[in-house]
Amino acid sequence: MSPHWEARADVIVVGTGVAGLTAALEARELGLRVLVITKASAGAGNTRWAQGGVAVVLPGEHDEGDSVAAHVEDTLVAGVGLCENDAVSAILADGATAVTRLRKLGAVFDPGADGKLARTREGGHSAFRVVHAGGDATGAEVERALLSAAQDGRVPLLENHIAVDTVRTPTGAVVGLLVLDPNGVPGVVSAPAVLLATGGLGQLFQATSNPEVATADGLALALRAGAPAADVEFVQFHPTVLYTGPGARGRCPLVTEAVRGEGAVLIDALGERVMKGVHPLEDLAPRDVVSAAITRRMALEPGGVDDHVYLDATHLDAAEFRRRFPTVLAACQSAGVDPAKDPIPVSPAAHFACGGVAATVDGRTGVIGLYAVGEVARTGLHGANRLASNSLLEGLVVGSRTARAIAEDLAACVLADPRTAVKAPLPTAPVADRDVLQRVMSRYAGIGRDGEGLAVVGSVLDVSAVDTVLKTRQRVEDAALTLVARALIAAAAARTESRGCHVRTDYPDTEPTWQHSLAVRLNPSGQPVLAANTLLRSAA
Ligand code: SIN
Repeated sequence: MSPHWEARADVIVVGTGVAGLTAALEARELGLRVLVITKASAGAGNTRWAQGGVAVVLPGEHDEGDSVAAHVEDTLVAGVGLCENDAVSAILADGATAVTRLRKLGAVFDPGADGKLARTREGGHSAFRVVHAGGDATGAEVERALLSAAQDGRVPLLENHIAVDTVRTPTGAVVGLLVLDPNGVPGVVSAPAVLLATGGLGQLFQATSNPEVATADGLALALRAGAPAADVEFVQFHPTVLYTGPGARGRCPLVTEAVRGEGAVLIDALGERVMKGVHPLEDLAPRDVVSAAITRRMALEPGGVDDHVYLDATHLDAAEFRRRFPTVLAACQSAGVDPAKDPIPVSPAAHFACGGVAATVDGRTGVIGLYAVGEVARTGLHGANRLASNSLLEGLVVGSRTARAIAEDLAACVLADPRTAVKAPLPTAPVADRDVLQRVMSRYAGIGRDGEGLAVVGSVLDVSAVDTVLKTRQRVEDAALTLVARALIAAAAARTESRGCHVRTDYPDTEPTWQHSLAVRLNPSGQPVLAANTLLRSAA
């Protein structure tokens, strides 16, 4: 295909969330020509919806006895044996520096009464170490600061441009992207380095805390480029999104875990505590434990109320709730709930992809020229279940590290020359109907899966998917959802145990023999298959 338009850069960053913008700013500071592209508007990604905060142990501003080592330990426990110990240590050790840099860029975190930063606690944390902004609007503040720094630094940004496929050399190195402009006109952006920071895949499911842009695009792009992915079966369901009625669809308002950090408890329709006796940390158990417990309780609920429980925060007075959780309060009010008086109806919803494109803590993937960072990447930090508020931190730390890795790779001349790119037409890929896909994924591949149900998902996708030229944003997104759904069910069917966010009703136990990650890649006919001989063994 002859592209209708062309652009060039040293590095293309795809996505405007915390990880992408951090990388873009650092790359620009290192003197690289950066181009940021995003399929929507700059603020449409997942970052702004993050409520709880950034988990970090800051020197001189931590609980007595807390340390980076304790944060590492909590992360490993939450990850149920699948975190990469070295990755966890490397990322968390850089946390304080990353947060300090972000504050220098202008991000303002909430102060505590002692003049230091206020800190809260979330599920799985053994200490109060989650710093937050605007009460429960941390993501919005992080995004505001990074976007304004990017504007001040004149980082070029192409909005409403969707990446359709990678452009590659004859040996498979990535040297650019095939992109549709806002009018659907295809063009090529050439660069020896492409950094995917495209976020997650919540739209695989009917109800999610993620915005509508979370359609797994970057993961699909990387798989098609030949990169392996790992841990894709581990999709974290947030225990508490606001329940707004039966059959909730699309993005559901989050009720941050920090509400439980401030003492709220989960109760059922009879007022019985849901987490009592389930885990020593009760309502602040790791997220996978709480979501699974709610799901079990909903199944037992009398009177046909089987799709939500309640979060009782009535111990907080109205003024305190308003000060601490203005975003949650606004969502509750628009649903007619007064959290100072009424328990908040909540249910679990798809929230975070613990797996993704297999990448190092410097963002390098298995393909030359292709880097991945943030939720789209699997660095080994999250294992089988991400510890709350570790993701903004990962974006900040790994975003910077990846920019430095790209600068090093460029200087070492290990990247390919975009002039050697193979010209390729707009790709064709199987596209399933999104509504059908979301229904079947929610029914059979959410919390509580079994072999039979996962096979049903495969059959439904087989029947529903039609080969389609990817010439619109909708088609690109639906093709990504179709491919990643297949990758997810391949890994979920193979993992015959329950671990972290992967709950198999036919294999309820956690098996020591399964304490390793599964890699997925595409076979020559484009089908996701488990990759043999993976180097992704967890450090058991
Ligand atoms: C929350 O505030 O509960 C979500 C934060 C996160 O997902 O880390």
